Amino acid sequence: MATLKPMTVPEFRAAKSRAQKLAVLTCYDYTSARLLDAAGVDALLVGDSLGMVIQGQKTPLPVTMREMLYHTACVVRGTSRALIVADMPFLSYQVSAAQSVRNAGRFLKIGAAAVKLEGGERMLPAIEACIRADIPVMGHIGLTPQSVHKMGGFKVQRDAEQILADAIAIERAGVFSIVLEGVPADVAAQVTALVNVPIIGIGAGPSCDGQVLVLHDMLGMYPDFRPKFVKQYANLSATISDAVATYCREVKDGQFPTAAETFQ
Ligand code: KIV
Repeated sequence: MATLKPMTVPEFRAAKSRAQKLAVLTCYDYTSARLLDAAGVDALLVGDSLGMVIQGQKTPLPVTMREMLYHTACVVRGTSRALIVADMPFLSYQVSAAQSVRNAGRFLKIGAAAVKLEGGERMLPAIEACIRADIPVMGHIGLTPQSVHKMGGFKVQRDAEQILADAIAIERAGVFSIVLEGVPADVAAQVTALVNVPIIGIGAGPSCDGQVLVLHDMLGMYPDFRPKFVKQYANLSATISDAVATYCREVKDGQFPTAAETFQ
């Protein structure tokens, strides 16, 4: 079990200098936030992956600011220790630097400690504007799901030169951490060695300073897509199906409710 001290942005950033690995998970609701927080997760990312695992969309592109704010508020209510990072959805920061600050600030107003936004060099204006407004930013480079159509699918990104340039550029801009997604392990190792802020990998091998997974993937609750990099720590699909099938059978057979579940 991790220390009970609340995780702050400076603490999260400083973990790298202490060679302390960081465990991050996505989270979208109050009940999960309570469980994950108590289990010692360092940061809860309210990811726009909720478009897929909560809403059943094919990509995160349809997710709106309103939806992200709603889920972030639910996670805030269930969290007492972990750092809460809210993902900026597609078109909430790409239009202008002013738009990015205005939208990022809305997440801090409801209790998030930081925002995450996708893109390297080309997103510097948005990143710099948020950081100038004292809004901590987590970068996200490599495979950036909001660029799914430009990439031609959710594909491993192999342009090591561009990935390194992106990491250096956003570190200089002041991000406190970087999510590095879907890149070969040797590229991730180079990025991790080169920059001074924690690199949080997803599909980026073991050298990163920390790891992030989508909660529904690691709990075995999202059968639509099973990427190679996911380790399933539980099979909740089977557990839930069994429980619900038993409930249905007991209701139909008259075995539930019994006296124990009945007010006399
Ligand atoms: O949206 C998300 O959940 C993410 C993580 C997978 C890094 O961006």
